[in-house]
Order: sequence, then C-alpha cells, then structure tokens
Amino acid sequence: MGQATPFLLVLSLALGAHGLSAQKCVLAGDWQNDLGSNMTISPVDEKGNFTGTYNTSVATIPSKIQTSPLQGFQKNLTAPIRQPTFGFTVNWNTSEANSITVFTGQCFVDKTGKEVLKTVWLLRLHANNIENYWNATLVGTNDFHRLKKQ
Ligand code: BTN
Repeated sequence: MGQATPFLLVLSLALGAHGLSAQKCVLAGDWQNDLGSNMTISPVDEKGNFTGTYNTSVATIPSKIQTSPLQGFQKNLTAPIRQPTFGFTVNWNTSEANSITVFTGQCFVDKTGKEVLKTVWLLRLHANNIENYWNATLVGTNDFHRLKKQ
C-alpha cells in the first residue's frame, strides 16, 4: 500500500497529461451539426464500411426531405490511430431533388475531451443542361458533435 501510492500518483499524472489525445474518437452513434442536421452512424465493420441515416435541417428545395441513407468508409482501423479519417455519401431521399452530397473529414477528440467530426462537403445539384453545369456544385464545412443519450 505504502509503496504503491507514489507509483499510482505518477501513473495518474502521466495518464492525465496524455489523457485527451489518447481518447478514441468513434464514428458510430448519433450526431448533430452546426446547422442542426442530425445523423446516425451504425457500427463500422471490420473492413471500415459503415451505413447510416441523415436528417437535414436545411435544403436547396422547398419540399421537405425525408430521412436519407448514407454510406461511408473509415480509414485507420488499427489500434494506434485513434482519430480516424472517413468519407461518406448521402443519397437525398426526395422525388424533387436529384442532388447528392459527399462528406469527408476526421473524427477528433477536442481539448475538452469531446468528440467532433470535422468535415468538408460537396453538394452536387442537378443541372438541366451542360451550360448550367458550372454553378451546380456547392461546397462547405460542417462540425458534428455527439448527441447525448436520452
Ligand atoms: C438538397 O438541398 O438538394 C439536398 C439537401 C442538402 C443539405 C446540405 S448537405 C450539406 C449541408 N449540411 C447539412 O446538414 N445540410 C446541408
């Protein structure tokens, strides 16, 4: 007991110093981004594939977009990489829009110990003809934070 105490103290200080960077960022779960859109990602399989659903809070078209499916891939599956890169595509579920969005980014643990998905996206809208191709792609960024369990 007497000898173990200083050892445990040193161990906890060492872990504290590296604690946040050592925390793992996990893609699976419920997320909300800075626009208020919600997304659920299912557990990533052993090859890095994942699926999920997306509910966007904004849209380029007036009619409401239903819950839409997403499919993605996570890199860095091996243990030492704890903040993995990923990409996914959302296939918008609406009869009105023929748009599609691709997201890519990285799952980080921030300075406060919270997970954040830092992403960039390309939203491809449908152009009616090739002359209108030039303005049919939007680009932006979204940060996603994990939704607390209810
Ligand atoms: C469309 O408007 O044609 C489909 C919906 C697009 C929603 C975009 S995707 C990028 C950005 N992030 C969101 O959560 N929603 C918008």
